[in-house]
Amino acid sequence: FLQAQLHAQKFVANYDESKIPEFTLPNPLVTEAGEAVTTAKQWQETRRPEIVDLFQKHVYGRSPAACKISHKVVSTKDDAVSGKAIRREVDVFFGDTTDAHSMRLLIYTPKTDKPVAAFLGLNFQGNHSIESDPAISLGDRWVRDRRNETVKDNRATEKARGVASSRWPVEKIIDRGYGLVTIYYGDIDPDFDDGFKNGIHGAMADQTKDIPAAEKWGSIAAWSYGLSRALDYLENDAKVDGDRVAVFGHSRLGKTSLWAGASDERFKMVISNNSGCGGAALSRRAIGETVGRINTSFPHWFNANFKQYNQNENACPVDQHELIALIAPRAVYVASATGDQWADPKGELLAEIHAEPVFRLLGTDGFGVDGVATSKVAPDQPIKGGTIGYHLRTGGHDVTDFDWQQYLDFADRHLQ
Ligand code: GCU
Repeated sequence: FLQAQLHAQKFVANYDESKIPEFTLPNPLVTEAGEAVTTAKQWQETRRPEIVDLFQKHVYGRSPAACKISHKVVSTKDDAVSGKAIRREVDVFFGDTTDAHSMRLLIYTPKTDKPVAAFLGLNFQGNHSIESDPAISLGDRWVRDRRNETVKDNRATEKARGVASSRWPVEKIIDRGYGLVTIYYGDIDPDFDDGFKNGIHGAMADQTKDIPAAEKWGSIAAWSYGLSRALDYLENDAKVDGDRVAVFGHSRLGKTSLWAGASDERFKMVISNNSGCGGAALSRRAIGETVGRINTSFPHWFNANFKQYNQNENACPVDQHELIALIAPRAVYVASATGDQWADPKGELLAEIHAEPVFRLLGTDGFGVDGVATSKVAPDQPIKGGTIGYHLRTGGHDVTDFDWQQYLDFADRHLQ
């Protein structure tokens, strides 16, 4: 009981700006040796690899080298989405044989002869949750029990069809000329703490055996690795242009899309929807969800080293503005919501503001406007004219049509 009480005390969330501890952010434009980074070359050759390495070592963990993949087409439908799209299911295997661990890609492409730009994003409840079409295969992998009829014994039921469709406006995406590729995140790694035995953690244990235990990949890194292997597949898919893929994710999967985009420079655009702590939000602000809190609730998301920074964020050699800086000079969009203070909307915008000098050094226009400040950003007024996009949507922790409207507009400028 005492233990539980102490635990609760330690993690009462703070939402009071005046109680934020004093902090200094690490400067993305100063090398570990203390040298100022003043050229794009210095950034690309010295500072960028340093920051990637710091995130691997202290936050997300080190993933194995890219494995060979193989694939198998599971289904094709030529008249999906009111006849406007082709929908395919493709199993991608983490290895060069089809007995390797696999993930199932659900791929929608508009009917056109040319390869299209596409959004790639993981989903929470299974590919069948995107659309209610009964022809989409019902996943048979472990899913979280939701205390409703969509899940029974940790397996999805027919009732799960289309339950997440409000977050995936497939028809709108197709109408705007884009492809959509989604994967159930649990195919890659089931989202619970089992000592990294299941999913690709277990399947690829051999490839990670030389990585120091404290630096091994957590689940966010594993999910990101899956996104990169999905991109390997898309690069060879005739219907999708692998050079124009935006990686998208909400919440824990927004943390994942950021790390995927930061660590894999082939992603041309990166979208973080309400990603919060361990995603776009600055850890040092320790407001809403904190490092100590996230590491306690979800010990498997990050590597073991990251636990050192529980209630000790200042000691971490990196912070999340540097994660966004790693995406430069490519396009990045961070979306927050007024009702999602847990994810620290202000900290999410500040991370972009503190990443902007890197975008400018690399010759981009940053936000595309001067003087972006947290005090000046009004709800539902997107900043989307530059390389760094942001909005603070009214409403709660979710993905809405408003969010997608901005992502599509942003993609029109960066992928078309
Ligand atoms: C929890 C968690 C967040 C995470 C969210 C989600 O709220 O604390 O860090 O983003 O789940 O993934 O929905």
